[in-house]
Amino acid sequence: MRLVLLGPPGAGKGTQASNIIKEYDVVHISTGDIFRKNIKEQTDLGKKVKDYLDKGLLVPDELTVDLVWDRLDQEDCKNGFLLDGFPRTLAQADALQKGLEKRNINLDKVINIEVDKNVLVKRLAGRRVCTNCGATYHVDFKPTKVEGVCDECKDHSVIQRDDDKEETVLNRIEVYENQTAPLIGYYKDLDLLYNVDGTLSVNEVFEKIKSCLNNM
Ligand code: AP5
Ligand code: MG
Ligand code: ZN
Repeated sequence: MRLVLLGPPGAGKGTQASNIIKEYDVVHISTGDIFRKNIKEQTDLGKKVKDYLDKGLLVPDELTVDLVWDRLDQEDCKNGFLLDGFPRTLAQADALQKGLEKRNINLDKVINIEVDKNVLVKRLAGRRVCTNCGATYHVDFKPTKVEGVCDECKDHSVIQRDDDKEETVLNRIEVYENQTAPLIGYYKDLDLLYNVDGTLSVNEVFEKIKSCLNNM
């Protein structure tokens, strides 16, 4: 299966991705995770993109598109992939379509997780991520068993993401509305879009996604 997860910051893309990869044979590719890993390791790419992430702005398309195709062309993606946070602009979506055509493959579904702005702010303010494995929690909706400690890695702590400060969050939401929301119409026209109500519980959202994917 070849899938795209679409939705505003905090909609639950990463949360649902971790459910989807347990159930289906797809590789999870999150451009946000790749950028954060490079920033942490202070690679050349990390140095180039740090400012954009700190401000909640999009990394330029050229950098992002090449990075994604390098990853998609690796052997483990042959069976299927799940793109999380890519594409995010119409130019990225076009580049993805062109690349897929060139390789004679196509997307099976674009899952659009819909959540209102006021809910997003609350979700991102309470989000905590593991410094080691990247697992995502929420202080109210998905707390760690022991406060401040990752359930999976035990001796590693969970922290707030740098771009989850309120001011940056509002910026990210605005960037989403201006640059990414038009992709909803783009994929609707391609007859690939599946809308899911992201204000339901994590499990309810996943059940809906499963019923969509199992009935394709
Ligand atoms: P990225 O890492 O992709 O961030 P984002 O799109 O802003 O999305 P988030 O990761 O913040 O939210 P999510 O939808 O994954 O929600 P989550 O599951 O964590 O991108 C970061 C930055 O990288 C961008 O700003 C940009 O600079 C750059 N970038 C990345 N891709 C790019 C691209 N293609 N082009 C250019 N630049 C790019 O959930 C959020 C919280 O809610 C968690 O605490 C979770 O536990 C909780 N939660 C989830 N679901 C539910 C639910 N159903 N009920 C209650 N709580 C829930
Ligand atoms: Mg995410
Ligand atoms: Zn962890």
